[in-house]
Amino acid sequence: MVFGGILAGGIGSRMNMADMPKQFLNLGDKPMVIHTLEKFLLCPKIEQIYIGVHPNWVVHMEDLVDKYIHIRKECVHIVSGGGDRNATIMNIVDAVERDYGESEEHYIITHDSVRPFVTSRIINDNIDAVLSHNICDTVIAATDTIVVSEDGNMIADIPVRSKMYQGQTPQSFQVNLLKRLYEALGEEEKAVLTDACKIAVVQNEPVYLVKGEPSNLKITTVSDYKVAQAMVGGKVVD
Ligand code: CTP
Repeated sequence: MVFGGILAGGIGSRMNMADMPKQFLNLGDKPMVIHTLEKFLLCPKIEQIYIGVHPNWVVHMEDLVDKYIHIRKECVHIVSGGGDRNATIMNIVDAVERDYGESEEHYIITHDSVRPFVTSRIINDNIDAVLSHNICDTVIAATDTIVVSEDGNMIADIPVRSKMYQGQTPQSFQVNLLKRLYEALGEEEKAVLTDACKIAVVQNEPVYLVKGEPSNLKITTVSDYKVAQAMVGGKVVD
């Protein structure tokens, strides 16, 4: 089976403009996380969708699903998120296995709730790639030159730009493989690996690339939020 895993367990500390995590702020006429969830619900190949939400916001998320979702509501499952992004993914994996058992044929398309402009093309390309390659990451070619600095003061390297990409989501995994890779990490590694695909990269497990879109932006700061509001024609509040 193919599952969607929407990551909404963060608190949005870098945004800090409202008394709720950024994924619950309205973009146009509905909350950001609802835009994201709708993109997944509109993809028929995604059979069940799990949303990992900070424990304090589970009831709020349930209310939002009741209010805004009118199609395939029975496919939406809300679970408590974990202490970091990867822990939220693993809570979702646990819930998938609790509900649908373990299988070598379970795949999960994980996606940031704060990337509401993901397209059907990107989701479908992730499904095709994960079914044939077991792990894939969504990226766009870097347009800016990437500069490496060890200390934030001096340049250590300027890698060749044509080999540089920026990571987006979805990131998709064969569920059993992801579990094996995550469980092989020590507690210290788990604490520093914030990117789910890096769990595979550090263990030399191949990760296939899927082409993202510049419009699949991640809302991290207030200025990202203003751009996103403009993209949906919503009111830009200072
Ligand atoms: N996320 C999650 N569980 C966590 C932490 C983050 O599901 N314990 C999710 C966020 O909700 C978001 C995505 O991971 O959809 C990307 O993370 P980021 O933009 O860093 O979100 P926050 O952690 O909420 O933001 P900040 O780092 O500013 O606190």
